Amino acid sequence: MNRKDDHMRLVFLGPPGAGKGTQGARLCEHFGLFHIATGDILRRSAGEGNPVGVRVKELMDRGELVPDELINELVGQMVTSPTVAKKGFVLDGYPRNVPQAEALDSALETVGARLDRVVRFMIIGTEIARRISGRRVCPVCKTVYHVDAHPPKQKWFCDLEGAALIQRPDDREETVLRRLEVYGQKTRPLFDFYSGKGLLTDLDAMGTEDEVFRRLLDAIK
Ligand code: AP5
Repeated sequence: MNRKDDHMRLVFLGPPGAGKGTQGARLCEHFGLFHIATGDILRRSAGEGNPVGVRVKELMDRGELVPDELINELVGQMVTSPTVAKKGFVLDGYPRNVPQAEALDSALETVGARLDRVVRFMIIGTEIARRISGRRVCPVCKTVYHVDAHPPKQKWFCDLEGAALIQRPDDREETVLRRLEVYGQKTRPLFDFYSGKGLLTDLDAMGTEDEVFRRLLDAIK
């Protein structure tokens, strides 16, 4: 792939554990794009301990979506900021329902921009379970590992911070089931929304990180 496009604007759709964050980080590093991962942003907010953070944490720990108003404003400001507009971006975890997708279109319109492509990560249920049950994260720098596919050099400590790795609170089985339900109910309607606009591209998200990355580069050509 030769494209070095300063204005690539992508959305990643896919169920929990599909590898959106892993591939988002990699693609953004490859092309110098902005990685806007709403789950990471909200986890930071949840850790702040203020009233908004407490509410956000409570919703996330149950696998529910946070209110649209909160996330729309935040993402709207980011995607219209001159730096992000100049670099391009990958939106990972946003939009998650049709109202959020409409809010995104409106925000982009204010700066005369629009999405280039929406990549849907396709993965089977057993692989979702394997990826989520093996996910470990650094509590300090938030680097994501996997016990088999992407282990740290020293079990089970972060390569960068040396901190003991943890599981995400919302990776408990009952919460994952709820997150999958929410994905089916709220996010699935976006498939029609974006395919109607000719923006949807499917990505086979099975296989190794390298294999998926190669397919991703092809998919966004
Ligand atoms: P969020 O953090 O966005 O969670 P998610 O969408 O459920 O996605 P995950 O982070 O679980 O998975 P991923 O696809 O990024 O996979 P990863 O690359 O980590 O959202 C969390 C919560 O925040 C939501 O439930 C909601 O409450 C709230 N929220 C967020 N956005 C919101 C919004 N817009 N509106 C309202 N609420 C919102 O990979 C998973 C594991 O697999 C890792 O261990 C990784 O190392 C491993 N792995 C990755 N690729 C491979 C591979 N190819 N082979 C083997 N292992 C792999």
